[in-house]
Amino acid sequence: LTHLLTTEGLPRETIEHILDTAASFLEVSDRSVKKVPLLRGKSVFNLFFENSTRTRTTFEIAAKRLSADVINLDVARSSTAKGETLLDTVDNLVAMHADMFVVRHNASGAPYLIAEHLRRTGRSEVHVVNAGDGRHAHPTQGLLDMYTIRHYKRDFSQLRVAIVGDILHSRVARSDIHALKALGVPEIRAIGPQTLLPVAIEKMGVRIFHDLREGVRDCDVIIMLRLQNERMNGALLPSAREYFKCYGLTTEVLALAKPDAIVMHPGPMNRGVEIASDVADGAQSVILPQVTFGIAVRMAVMSILAGN
Ligand code: CP
Repeated sequence: LTHLLTTEGLPRETIEHILDTAASFLEVSDRSVKKVPLLRGKSVFNLFFENSTRTRTTFEIAAKRLSADVINLDVARSSTAKGETLLDTVDNLVAMHADMFVVRHNASGAPYLIAEHLRRTGRSEVHVVNAGDGRHAHPTQGLLDMYTIRHYKRDFSQLRVAIVGDILHSRVARSDIHALKALGVPEIRAIGPQTLLPVAIEKMGVRIFHDLREGVRDCDVIIMLRLQNERMNGALLPSAREYFKCYGLTTEVLALAKPDAIVMHPGPMNRGVEIASDVADGAQSVILPQVTFGIAVRMAVMSILAGN
């Protein structure tokens, strides 16, 4: 791997190698354990052109645990605000000896543009990790979701996984579906109103449900998604109350899934919109462990890209 831009097309063996490597880092990703020197002398630049709490912070922690130097570009105070292009910014950071870019951008394809630019300009030794581009892909979230599912369920071959809500605008849903398919999950359900499901989603090999109760029945894993209003361009939205009534995960709805079903959410959550607080904080929720596993998974991705 030179870059990690998407989970689409990643072979099962590559995903398993990343998850196994993450498992070996899990102790190191705990604060009580010392750093490892795998990225000593390397510079990791976090370029977040869109807001983030979990992804940016866990990438920073992960890079520091690998002993890298971490530079967080303050985009709002950078010269992009004066009209400097994305690729000129990249060229200048490469001139500062960047070894790896972690890129979040609201434009789908921005990390691809950077990777292609690096290739064309003969700097293929600089790695790019997509930390979420538009509605397209969020591969490290997909991988940490797979890590979480494997941690709690062990075996992917018998699972029924439901993804619920605004799948149309969700880069997480797309990255999860590609990874779940690669790992051999036999049944993936996409649950949501017609208006929030991509037109061609059936081609991804998922079963469509518009009724939440029907969709979560007998599921092993339920992945809840936020309404991504920032990507809806002024579309007529249901009120939070209307949406919660039809698609909010409550204890009553969760009871229709398998008794040992786990509840996941990539965050940020909107309590009382897509998920009830007692479910988000309940015994079946693994939402905070997802965040913790994200550190080890991002350590694994960066160390593999760097050739370790
Ligand atoms: N899951 C996720 O991408 O969260 P942030 O937007 O906080 O990084």
